[in-house]
Amino acid sequence: LRTIAKRRLPHGVFDYIDGGAEDERSLANNSSAFGRYEFRPRILRDVSDIDTSTELFGRPMSMPIVLAPTGFTRIAHSQGELAVARAAERAGIPCSLSTMGTRSIEEMRAAAPNGEQWFQVYTWRDRGLVKELVDRAAAANHSAIWLTVDTAMLGRRERDVRRGMTLPPKIGLSTLVDGVIHPWWTLDFLRNDPITFANVIGLSDEDGSSAVNLAEHMARQFDPALSWDDVDWLRSIWDGPIVLKGIQTVDDAEQAVAVGVDGIGLSNHGGRQLDDAPAPIALVEPVRDVVGDGPTIICDGGVRRGSDVVKALALGADAVSMGRPYLFALGAGGERGVDHVLDFFRDGITRTMALNGVRSVDEIDRSLVAAAR
Ligand code: FNR
Repeated sequence: LRTIAKRRLPHGVFDYIDGGAEDERSLANNSSAFGRYEFRPRILRDVSDIDTSTELFGRPMSMPIVLAPTGFTRIAHSQGELAVARAAERAGIPCSLSTMGTRSIEEMRAAAPNGEQWFQVYTWRDRGLVKELVDRAAAANHSAIWLTVDTAMLGRRERDVRRGMTLPPKIGLSTLVDGVIHPWWTLDFLRNDPITFANVIGLSDEDGSSAVNLAEHMARQFDPALSWDDVDWLRSIWDGPIVLKGIQTVDDAEQAVAVGVDGIGLSNHGGRQLDDAPAPIALVEPVRDVVGDGPTIICDGGVRRGSDVVKALALGADAVSMGRPYLFALGAGGERGVDHVLDFFRDGITRTMALNGVRSVDEIDRSLVAAAR
């Protein structure tokens, strides 16, 4: 799907999705770290019935995957978050909407009335705006909030810097050439309503459609003064589960539990923020050891196969999350692409469970994996 998306999307768009911070070592390591674990498969157990379903925060899901929040999703395909929400609803898994999303909270709910939807917030300088968004998410029956905590400043994504990436794309000579040689994307872009930050007024220019420089824009919105007190503040305005997204050490995971968050989101933002941040999969086991059985752990970054999902669960996660797999799918084939990638993961999880001799998510435990020899 990545290969097809690379062919179909303009270079700047592909690099915005595919790229990471600085030397992209964390980006690469997120995926390769899964190879440091190997299975300890058990044989001769009747695996004719495999059940991949589980639950998070008391809500059922058909497999342990939450689609991660991604900003500017419509840049991959005009349907953007709506296509993702419909595919996730069909698949029976939660999807997430970013504060920087390109479809509104209300449009997303209308597209998938019975789907599990989570909202992601950044605590911006303008707390009134954050509260308004959280209230709208509650009114739209969102079941959890991700609070993203790894963006005190925007990471230096050098592919975007080099290409002068703006969102939405500004039309200049290079984007024109890029557009002409990627007609599938260009027609889809031109035929549909302009890409805007659909949830937030005042982020784009007055008419909501002008291009803004990504780094400058983010720098204006992010609040580098964010602290643990802000987690208490979010707690005071949202009754449902809160998952801190971007925890990268055992100590912070402990502190998150101490301040009463419901979920620990082990993530380095898909290698897009701090380069040489640890691979989230490597943190799962030590964090679970310290926080015990209670807190929910969700791990994201580099999950590319069903076997990665099973490894994360074996090490102690309750679910994984992922961004690029569904963005590449959207770019490669729109909504059908997202259906396809979710089938691919379901199939991969099922096969990995069968070949390891486990029938249900409950049976996936630490004995299933070890450091690769
Ligand atoms: C992201 N991610 C992200 N996270 C977040 O909290 N808010 C956001 O707006 C975005 N935007 C965003 C855009 C794009 C293009 C990507 C690739 C990622 C991070 C995302 O939620 C998740 O942590 C990573 O995508 C996980 O890594 P993988 O699955 O992409 O390797």
